[in-house]
Amino acid sequence: MTILVTGGLGFIGSHTVVELMEQGRDCVIIDNLSKSTLNVVDRIEAVVQKKVPFLKVEMLDKIALREVFKAYNISSVIHFAGYKSVGESVKQPLLYYQNNLISTINLLEIMQEFDVKKLVFSSSATVYGDAHLPPLKEGLALSAPNPYGRTKLMLEEILRDFVAANTEWSIALMRYFNPIGAHKSGLLGEMPYGTPNNLMPHLLNAASGETEKLQIFGGDYNTEDGSCIRDFIHIMDLADGHVKALQYVEEDFGCEAFNLGTGVGYSVLNLIHTFEAVTATKIPYEIVDRRDGDIVISIADVEKATTVLGWKAKYRLKDMCIDSWRWYQTVKGYTI
Ligand code: WQD
Repeated sequence: MTILVTGGLGFIGSHTVVELMEQGRDCVIIDNLSKSTLNVVDRIEAVVQKKVPFLKVEMLDKIALREVFKAYNISSVIHFAGYKSVGESVKQPLLYYQNNLISTINLLEIMQEFDVKKLVFSSSATVYGDAHLPPLKEGLALSAPNPYGRTKLMLEEILRDFVAANTEWSIALMRYFNPIGAHKSGLLGEMPYGTPNNLMPHLLNAASGETEKLQIFGGDYNTEDGSCIRDFIHIMDLADGHVKALQYVEEDFGCEAFNLGTGVGYSVLNLIHTFEAVTATKIPYEIVDRRDGDIVISIADVEKATTVLGWKAKYRLKDMCIDSWRWYQTVKGYTI
C-alpha cells in the first residue's frame, strides 16, 4: 500500500517523505515543480539510500491526477501541494484561490473515485488570525488575515463538510507554527524560490554576508525585547508529526485539527542571538518598521497532538539554528 505525498519536493513534504521511508512506508511523490526542483528527489534518495517514485503532476489537471491513482495502489494521502507565500497571495489572490482550492477539490474527487479515504492536510497556524491570546488551542474561532490564510481556512471548512457527508473518511488538519531547521545530513532544507518571505532564509543570507543585514520588522511590540514572538519548530519534528497523524487517520474516522508547535515562544531577537551563539557567526541587523499583518505572539497549545497523536517536539532552538546553518553552507557550497 502506497502513500501519495503531494508537494513532496517542498520543505515540509521532502522531510516527511524521508521520515515515512525510514519507517518502512512506501511513498510516491507528485509535485508540479513550480516552487521546488527535481534534484530534491536525488537528495531524498541519498538520505534514505533507496529510490523514491516521483511524477511531475499539475494537480489542477484531474486527468493527470487520476493517472497517478491508476498507476499506484494508493492507501492514503498527505497533501502538501499548495502556494504558501503571504505576500504573493495579497498580490495575486485568484492564483492562490484557484491553485490551493481547486487542486484540493480535484484530489478529493479522485480519492473518492478510487475509494481512498485517509487524508492528512497541510493547514497552518495562520487560521487562528490575530484575535486570540496564546497559547492557541484547536477549538478557537478561526479567521485569516490574508488570501493565503483564507485558502487554508476555506479548505479546512470544505474538508469538514466533506467528512460530515462521508463519515467513513478520516482527515487530519495539521496547523503548523513556524517551521525552521533542516535535515541533519545537510542535504535537505528550506530552499525558497524568488524572494524569501519568512525569517530564517533572510537570517541565513545576512549571516553568510549574502545580504548586508537582516531587517527586523518592528522592535516596539509589547514583548520583553520589543520583537515579535513565534513558536519555532524543527522541520524534523514537523515531519514526525505528519507520520503520527497518518497513523491516526489510518486507524480513526472523522475530521480533527492538530497544532504542530513546541508550545514555547521565542522572540525574533532570541532566535538571532541563539543562532549567533551556536554558530559563532555575527548577524548584522537593523530594526525597521513593523510589517503589516504580523501578529505579536504566536504560540501553540500542543496538548491535543501530544495526547491524541502521541507526538511531542524533541528539538530545541539551538538544534534548529545549527541544522539550518549546516544546510545553508551545504546548499551554497561553503565549507562546513
Ligand atoms: C516571523 C517573524 C516577522 C522576516 C508565516 C505565515 C504562516 C506560516 C509561517 C505557512 C515575524 C519577522 C520575518 C524578516 C523579520 N507559513 N521577520 N524579518 O509571519 O510568523 O508566518 O510563515 O504556513 O502561515 O504567515 O513567519 O517567518 O514571515 O515571520 O523580522 O525578514 O519574523 O515580522 O515577526 P510568520 P515569518
